[in-house]
Amino acid sequence: MITEVQTKTTGAAVPNIDAAAHVTGRSLYLDDLPMLDGTLYAKIFDSPAAHGIVRRIDFSRAAAAPGIVRIFSAADIPGANNIGGIFPDEPLLADKKVLFMGQPLLLLVAESEEAAEAALPLIEVEIEPLPVITCPREAFRKGELLSPTRSFRTGDTEAAFASCAWVLEGSAETGGQEHLYLETHGAYAWPLENDSLRIYSSTQGLRHVQETVAHLLALGMHRVEVDVTRLGGGFGGKEDQAALWASMAGLAAWHLRRPVKCIPHRMEDMRMSGKRNPYKSDYRIGLDADGRILAFEATYYQNGGAAADLSPAILERTLFHGTNTYAIPNVTLTAHSCRTNLPPNTAFRGFGGPQGMFVMEAALDHAAKAMGLPTFELQRRNLMTDGYTFSYGQTVTQSAATACWEEAADRFGLTEKQAKVAAFNKANAWKKKGFSLMPICFGISFTNTMMNQARALLHVYWDGSVSLSTGAVEMGQGINTKMLQVAALMLGIHPGRIKLESTNTTRVANTSPSAASATADLNGKAVEDACRQIRGRLEMVARELLGAAEDAPVEIREEQVSSPGVDTTTDWATLIRTAFSKRINRSAKGHYATPDIHFDKKTEKGHPFAYHVYGTALTHCTVDCLRGTYEIDSVEVVHDFGQSINPLIDLGQCEGGIVQGIGWMTMEEVVYDESGRLRSNALSTYKIPDIYSVPKVLDVHFLETEGHRLAIRRSKAVGEPPLMYGIGAFFALRNAVLAFNPNADLPYTAPMTPERVLMALYSNKA
Ligand code: MTE
Ligand code: HPA
Ligand code: MOS
Repeated sequence: MITEVQTKTTGAAVPNIDAAAHVTGRSLYLDDLPMLDGTLYAKIFDSPAAHGIVRRIDFSRAAAAPGIVRIFSAADIPGANNIGGIFPDEPLLADKKVLFMGQPLLLLVAESEEAAEAALPLIEVEIEPLPVITCPREAFRKGELLSPTRSFRTGDTEAAFASCAWVLEGSAETGGQEHLYLETHGAYAWPLENDSLRIYSSTQGLRHVQETVAHLLALGMHRVEVDVTRLGGGFGGKEDQAALWASMAGLAAWHLRRPVKCIPHRMEDMRMSGKRNPYKSDYRIGLDADGRILAFEATYYQNGGAAADLSPAILERTLFHGTNTYAIPNVTLTAHSCRTNLPPNTAFRGFGGPQGMFVMEAALDHAAKAMGLPTFELQRRNLMTDGYTFSYGQTVTQSAATACWEEAADRFGLTEKQAKVAAFNKANAWKKKGFSLMPICFGISFTNTMMNQARALLHVYWDGSVSLSTGAVEMGQGINTKMLQVAALMLGIHPGRIKLESTNTTRVANTSPSAASATADLNGKAVEDACRQIRGRLEMVARELLGAAEDAPVEIREEQVSSPGVDTTTDWATLIRTAFSKRINRSAKGHYATPDIHFDKKTEKGHPFAYHVYGTALTHCTVDCLRGTYEIDSVEVVHDFGQSINPLIDLGQCEGGIVQGIGWMTMEEVVYDESGRLRSNALSTYKIPDIYSVPKVLDVHFLETEGHRLAIRRSKAVGEPPLMYGIGAFFALRNAVLAFNPNADLPYTAPMTPERVLMALYSNKA
């Protein structure tokens, strides 16, 4: 439903076009698709062991169970038994060896979901156990690497450390994070004529799904059509891993020539899918007597899980964001992607950036405590300004780091609040408050330059209404509303005339995943290109219609077509009908490739990002020192949105990102035991922020900036950067604990769960 506001305004706070359908339950998700007659259900039988050799597998009893149509194993795959995106190192169905608990071994296909479920326990499997590795440091010691080690360097850290007044070293750890999209993974495959398939998939990455299914079945990609209406959340979890479920449904549909649905239950999804990569890291930081960072070294041990998945790319972004927003002249960062016997970990909002930034913040906090300064003093003294060159060679322009910081300190009264916290802590024995600042700087563009491209397809129908297709996937981030706004502004028509089509590989091919926060920039600029082409043609028609000169400018605004100095006007609908009768093409394909970006992996130097996003968060919390429980009192942010195209949606992205970041840093704890079994395997054992635990105050201020020419209509990318404000919650809590017990033993280990807080409150550093 298009509201009144939307038909009038286009560049302002347009409500999400999905809002009404969402709250009335009319939005369509994968499992809402009308079912075809004869649809079958597929269930995965997954490995009960984390590492071992499959000695025997017997599914004869299951195959004879009621309703079972067929059971597939690796032997039934006609093409490539691989779902790996970056490296072909992950089988769809394991064969002789299993590498993680939850790894698919067989696919049961039945007339009903219940029948498939009932047959699962009838499968017998014997696995000869092999040693299980769950720790990335151990994997590294044993030489288990998923990809070659990478290093970013600038200056000479060794020489610089020698001249530092302060040198501190230590370790930092961050845990995994379950995506917990409201809609689980899933796919629904339909066999079509001529050996073709259509796959409805809950994926952020249509091209990867299409390519994986095609190669699996030894088909050309042209025989596999992938369609996505929307996702009930992806958060990176469906960037590459959706291919697993699509491949399962596709394999069965192709063999059986019947439609097949494969949608896991929540616990299956949690057990079988990868999560945010946990990291264990070491750092060394050197500063001069004035608190300027002269040198920083870090070594990251990324827990990649059993296959590469996206981990090598995630590792790269850790390196890009290893120094966060600080101007450090001498930097050496080294990152290892380590193979463990866990489900392959994957993209998660921030894509390795948050993991890198946490280590930097831990090092700074460590140094500040040693120097007897508030951490925010050191942060502020080291904020980067224009002209600083990152370790990866890109030079900073349009830095908003200081502007965001100063505005946050001013607007939210840092000095007064500091005094208030001190006074509160003096007056209260059993409750302590803590606060922190968290500045961020996040690079926008896929770090793999090739992926920074997009296309859009636009049709104008006879009645003047418009069909718009892009490569963008709507997953709750409001991309469809933004695309609609861009097209409406470019064409000068009411948004109500435009319909966003489902994302489909036949309409828009070769898409990059909707990821890297770059979806609006890339697809929006492709929409602009398509609109520009159509406008160019329509303007020629308009000049004739209005009797304007051949080179006269034409305006189309609010559906009215005019030319300065000409006193006739016409409307959009008439213009379109005239174009039709003149046989002018009213369809266009737009294309966009981000200009000016490049990166050389041999030298590890280049200009990988179109621009950076900045901001600063001020976080306050209160710890109950008897129980270890805590509340986040407030998160106050000044964020650089550029010229926001949709402040309502951007604010929502900011709030959601912050809460998700706080969850990662505080209560969300992914636990695997030594045998590689996921212990936090349901919502009873894995806790995410709810309405009661979100910050009591969440205040986001839009910094006034010009935006960036490579951002869509100068509206900067917003999807991922705010998540990193959540890191501030860790340090605020740490400060509150230290206010209670200055000698508390509190390593830089996230998440800061209430259990960890309680133990720390009554601990003593040796
Ligand atoms: N917001 C919602 N509601 N649901 C999501 O799945 N994914 C996040 C972010 N915000 C996500 C979200 C992630 S990981 C990314 S990369 C961006 O949205 C992707 O969309 P964008 O490129 O349009 O920002
Ligand atoms: N960000 C998010 N997803 C990605 C990236 C990236 O830089 N590269 C490949 N997939
Ligand atoms: Mo987001 S992690 O780039 O899907």
